Amino acid sequence: MGIGEVVKAVAKVPGKVTLLGEHAVVYGQPAIVAGIDRYVVVEASDLEGDEVDVYSEDISVKGVNARLGPGGAVYTCGEAIAEKAFSYVFEAIRQIRIISETVRGAAIRIKSDMPVGAGLGTSAAVAAGTCAAYSAILGLQLDPATLAELATKAELGVQGSSSGMDAHAVCLGGVNVVNKANERLTVSRLKIRGPLPLGVVETPREAPTAHAVETVARLRSRYPDLVDRLNSDIGAIVQDGVTTIESGNLTQLGELMNINHGLLSSLGVSTAAMEEAVYSARRAGAIGSKITGAGMGGSVVYLCDTDRKLGEVNSVLRNMGMVSSAVHTVEKGVSVTLV
Ligand code: MEV
Repeated sequence: MGIGEVVKAVAKVPGKVTLLGEHAVVYGQPAIVAGIDRYVVVEASDLEGDEVDVYSEDISVKGVNARLGPGGAVYTCGEAIAEKAFSYVFEAIRQIRIISETVRGAAIRIKSDMPVGAGLGTSAAVAAGTCAAYSAILGLQLDPATLAELATKAELGVQGSSSGMDAHAVCLGGVNVVNKANERLTVSRLKIRGPLPLGVVETPREAPTAHAVETVARLRSRYPDLVDRLNSDIGAIVQDGVTTIESGNLTQLGELMNINHGLLSSLGVSTAAMEEAVYSARRAGAIGSKITGAGMGGSVVYLCDTDRKLGEVNSVLRNMGMVSSAVHTVEKGVSVTLV
C-alpha cells in the first residue's frame, strides 16, 4: 500500500496483568504476563502538514487535547497525568518517524477503558496503539513483535527504563512467559488448560512506574545480596508458575501469587490500599492475590477457583467500596483496521 492511500487506521490494544514476576524481570528473572479484555483504542487520521494533534476522551481526565509541533508538545490542559499519557503518544510517533524516515501530520484520538497508572499496561497499550495506527496511515505493515519493540522504545523514552514486558504482553496477547537476558526479551506462549477466573481491584496510584523501579534499585544498592536473593526467589516462583499454569493447578497458582506478593511487599512497592485489597480478596475467598504491575498503587489481581466464586469475591469487594471487576485473558494482542 502506498503512502497517502489510507485515511484512517484504528488500532485496538488489550491491557495486561502480570500473574507473577514483575520487578524481578528487570534483573533478568522470568515473569508471566497475560493480555486481558480491557482495551485502548487509538485512531490515526491524515492531517495536512507535519504537526500531530492528539485528543483523548477518557485518559484520566476527559477531553484532553495536545499538539506536537516543531517547538515540542503543547497541552490545552495542565493535568500532569494526562501529559504523562500523551508523552507515550509523542514518543511512539517519534519511533515511527525514525523507522519510516517520514514526518507526516496526523490526528490521533484515544479511547481507553483503563485509567493511566492502573497497572494494567495502559501506557504500553497507548504507545503500541499509536505506533500501530500511525504506521498504518503511513502505509507500513508492522507485525506485533516489531510493534512491541517500538512501543518498548517509546516507554524507555518516557520512563527511562522498561523491561519491555508490558509492551510485549499487550502486542502479543495470550499468556506468556517473558525473560530478559542479554538486553533481549524472549517470549514464549503458555498453554493454559482453561479460563483463569481473575479479577482486579484498582487502588490510588501513589507514584509512577519509574519511581517504583527506582525504589527497588535504591533498596538493591543498599542491600545487594538480599535484594538479589529476593529477585531470584521471585524467579523460582515464576519457574514453578509455568508448570502450575500448564497443568491447570489453580490452587497452587494462587499460593504462588500470595508468596510473590509477600516478596513484592518486601521490595517496598506496596501501599496500605494495596495490602487492604490483597487481604480483603483473600478473606472473601480468592485463592491468590497480589500486586500486578509496578505497584505503589495501581491494581491488585486476584484469582478464584471458579467463575462463581469470582462473582462472589467481586461483589464483596464492591460492597466494601473497592473498584473491583472480573477480567478475562485474551488470545489476541494488537490489531489494526484500515478505514
Ligand atoms: C511494570 O508493569 C513492570 C515492572 O517490572 C517494570 C518493567 O518490567 O519494566 C515493574
